[in-house]
Amino acid sequence: MPTHKPKSPHPTTASKATFDKLEAMNQEALSGGGEDRVAKQHAKGKLTARERIALLLDQGSFQETGRFVVHRSSDFGLTEEKYLGDGVVTGYGTVEGRLVYVFSQDFTVFGGSLSETHAEKIVKIMDLALKNGAPVIGLNDSGGARIQEGVVSLAGYADIFHRNVRASGVIPQVSAILGPCAGGAVYSPALTDFIFMVEHTSYMFVTGPNVVKTVTREEVSSEDLGGAMTHASKSGVTHFISPNEVDSIRDIRRLLSYLPSNCEEDPPALPYQASTNSLREELDTLLPDNPNQPYDMHEVIRGVIDADSFFEVQKEYAENIIVGFARLAGRVIGIVANQPMSFAGVLDVNASRKAARFVRFCDAFNIPLWVAVDVPGFLPGTDQEWNGIIQHGAKLLYAFSEATVPRVTVIIRKAYGGAYDVMNSKHIGADLNFAWPSAEIAVMGAQGASEIIFKKEIQQAGDPASIHREKMGEYQEKFAHPYHAAGRGFIDEVIFPRETRQKLIQAYRMLENKVESLPKKKHGNIPL
Ligand code: HXC
Repeated sequence: MPTHKPKSPHPTTASKATFDKLEAMNQEALSGGGEDRVAKQHAKGKLTARERIALLLDQGSFQETGRFVVHRSSDFGLTEEKYLGDGVVTGYGTVEGRLVYVFSQDFTVFGGSLSETHAEKIVKIMDLALKNGAPVIGLNDSGGARIQEGVVSLAGYADIFHRNVRASGVIPQVSAILGPCAGGAVYSPALTDFIFMVEHTSYMFVTGPNVVKTVTREEVSSEDLGGAMTHASKSGVTHFISPNEVDSIRDIRRLLSYLPSNCEEDPPALPYQASTNSLREELDTLLPDNPNQPYDMHEVIRGVIDADSFFEVQKEYAENIIVGFARLAGRVIGIVANQPMSFAGVLDVNASRKAARFVRFCDAFNIPLWVAVDVPGFLPGTDQEWNGIIQHGAKLLYAFSEATVPRVTVIIRKAYGGAYDVMNSKHIGADLNFAWPSAEIAVMGAQGASEIIFKKEIQQAGDPASIHREKMGEYQEKFAHPYHAAGRGFIDEVIFPRETRQKLIQAYRMLENKVESLPKKKHGNIPL
C-alpha cells in the first residue's frame, strides 16, 4: 500500500513568493491612484469607487473582474504611468441576495477617464449581464474620454453605447452620476433606464460652462447648466436626486427591489397577509366639494397601495403627472396619475414624455400599470404647440396602446377630451376601467361645452348669464358623471372610493396570467 505524506499547511518557498506577489498586486490595485488622490476625493465629499461598491452590494458579495488590467497606451509618457485596474472597478455581486453587475469609475486614476481597456472592462460586464439576465449598475465619475488615447477612447464609448441599446428592455440598466460627466460620456447614462444624481457633486452636460461661454457668450455655472437639480426639475434627464452619495446608493438598492432581473421575469413579490378589512374609508371624503378645487393625488395613491410602498420617479419634473412604483398586496405595480395640485393635472409636453417613458419601462419589465385619472385635457397655447405637444402627447398614447402588461384605470374626477382617451382608456386596450361616482367623462368641462354648443341661445337671451347657467346644468346632467360611459361599457364598474384598494387587488389577481401579443413587426415607430 502506498503511503501518503500529509501535506504541509504552509506554502513552499516557491509558492510563497508567488502568493506574496499576488498579495502585493492586490494591495496596489486596491490603492487606486494613491493616498493623496483618495484624500482629495474625500475632501470633495465623494467616496472612492470601491467604497461605493461596498455600499451598493450585499456585504462580502462583490467578485471583481479585471483587477490587473492596465492601459496599452504609450503616448504622452503613459508607458511610465500605469495603475492596476485602469480607472474602473468592475464585477458582480448581489443586492438583497439578487445578482447584479456593476462598474464603478475611479476618479483617482486619470480622473476616471475612459481608455480603451477601461471601456473593455465595462463592455465585458455588460456582455455578462446580458447573457445572464441581471441588471447593470454604472457608478460614473469620470473626466470623459482619456485625452491621451484619442479615437481609441471614443471607440470604447461607442462600444458601450451599442451595448446599452442592445440591453435596453432586456435587463434593467441604472446609472449613478457621482462626479463630472461631460461630452459624449453623458450618452451612456442617457441610454439607460434610470439616472441618479447627487446634489452639488455631480454634473452632466454635453459641453461645460467654458465652451458654452465661448460659443454662445452665455455665462452659467456648472450647477445651473447641468447640476442635479437642473436635470431633475428642468430637463428631466435625471430620475432621482439625493443630497449625498450614501442616500443615492441606498435609493438604487430600493429601486432594484421593485424590478425583475430581466424581461423574462416578474418583479419580486413580497409575502402579504390580507387584512380582513381593506376598505379605505378616508378616500370617501378626500375630494373637495368644488370640482375645480385641487387635492393631492398622493393621498389617493397612499389610500390604495401597501403602507410606505410608493417609490416616486422623477418627483421634481412635470409635477402635473405622478409616476412611480408601489406594492399592492405585496405585488409591484407602476402608477401613472394626474396631479390636480399642479396645473390642475393637465397633460403637457413634459408630462407626456415623462409618463410615456415610464409606461414603456413598466411594459418592458412586466410591471402591471395602474392609472389614476383626473385630467382636464391637454394644455393649450403657442408654447405647447410650438414645442410639439401633438407629437409628445402621441408618445403617451402610443406607450399605453402598445403596452401588454395588465392595465387598470380608475377615473377619480375629470377625464376630458383627448386626455380621456390617452389616459389608459378602454379604447386603447386597458383591461379594467373603474370610475368613482365623482367621475366626469366628457369632451370638455360643462362651462366651455355649453358656451360652444349653446352660443346662439346665450347671445340672444335677455339674461345671458342665467341661460348659460341653465345650459351648463343641462350639459352637466348629461355628462358630468360616469354613468353615460358606464352605460356604454367604457367603464366596467362605478365603485365607492373606499373600495378602490380591494377592487384593484382583485383586478390584478384576475389579470395575473394575462397573455397578449402585438402584431408581428420589426419594431413600431413611436413618435420620438
Ligand atoms: C485624462 C484626465 C481627464 C481626461 C481628468 N484627468 N480628465 N486624464 N483624460 N479626460 C486627470 C487630470 O489630469 C488629473 O490627473 C486628474 O484626472 C484629476 O483631474 P483634475 O482636473 O485635477 O480634477 P478636477 O479639478 O476635479 O476637474 C475634473 C474635470 C477636469 C472637470 C473632469 O479634469 C476636466 O475638465 N477634464 C477634462 C474633461 C474633458 O474635456 N473630457 C473630454 C470630454 S469629451 P492627476 O494626475 O493630476 O491626478 C469626451 C468625448 C466622449 O468625453 C465622446 C463619446 C462619444
